[in-house]
Amino acid sequence: MSAQGHAEGIVIAIDGPSGSGKSSTAKGVARARELRYLDTGAMYRAMTWWMLDQGIDPNDAAAVAEASPRPVITLGTDPAAPTVHVDGTDVAAAIRTQEVTTNVSAVSAVPEVRERLVALQREVIERGRREASGIVVEGRDITTVVAPDAPVKIFLTASPEARADRRSKEVNAADIAATQADLARRDQLDSTRADSPLTQTADALELETSNLTLDEVIAIVVKLADEAAGAVEGSTPR
Ligand code: DC
Repeated sequence: MSAQGHAEGIVIAIDGPSGSGKSSTAKGVARARELRYLDTGAMYRAMTWWMLDQGIDPNDAAAVAEASPRPVITLGTDPAAPTVHVDGTDVAAAIRTQEVTTNVSAVSAVPEVRERLVALQREVIERGRREASGIVVEGRDITTVVAPDAPVKIFLTASPEARADRRSKEVNAADIAATQADLARRDQLDSTRADSPLTQTADALELETSNLTLDEVIAIVVKLADEAAGAVEGSTPR
């Protein structure tokens, strides 16, 4: 219970590589249970977009670290219409370009970038817990670093073929082999970086989604969330 006597909202943490179904699942669960939604990848993409816009080389870690406190990054958490702004500019489309996708792993490997964005993410999570029924958060280090105490922790996986197929449809790419190669390159960078690599912990439930429909995956996570919410309520002292 919060100091005001309201039950605090639930946090559902979802990690996994790109194309594993994180975003669609997280949004679907948030809509089903009227929770807020936070796409942390969009924050790393927004930071990368800004570096490129400023003419800062994403591979110059020292320059990226030095500039990283400057952009004001704000995310709207309505799962029906999530928004991303940098210094007041709507960058929702701009952060999905190939140029940003190619450079985002380098920017997100810089510890100063992560420190700043993790602090921002925790603020958004705290607001979701206090002002709403809770929040669904997706990324690469949510179950391990950002919200390791979340009552629901999921690690989504899918075969390389299924992931490339989904990603190609999302971005209208005709060349599935090239998409698969790009996913493999980002997987390698995201899971081998020194700071908060993508890792699966023993206490996160692995969901292999290759042969499940989106609705099936959402239903599984909603059930886990309902069980966790029940357990939390049941244990709340009167
Ligand atoms: O989920 P996405 O593909 O939009 O994420 C873009 C990149 O951001 C991804 O390649 C790695 C990085 N990322 C991260 O390092 N930590 C997170 N919590 C989320 C994303």
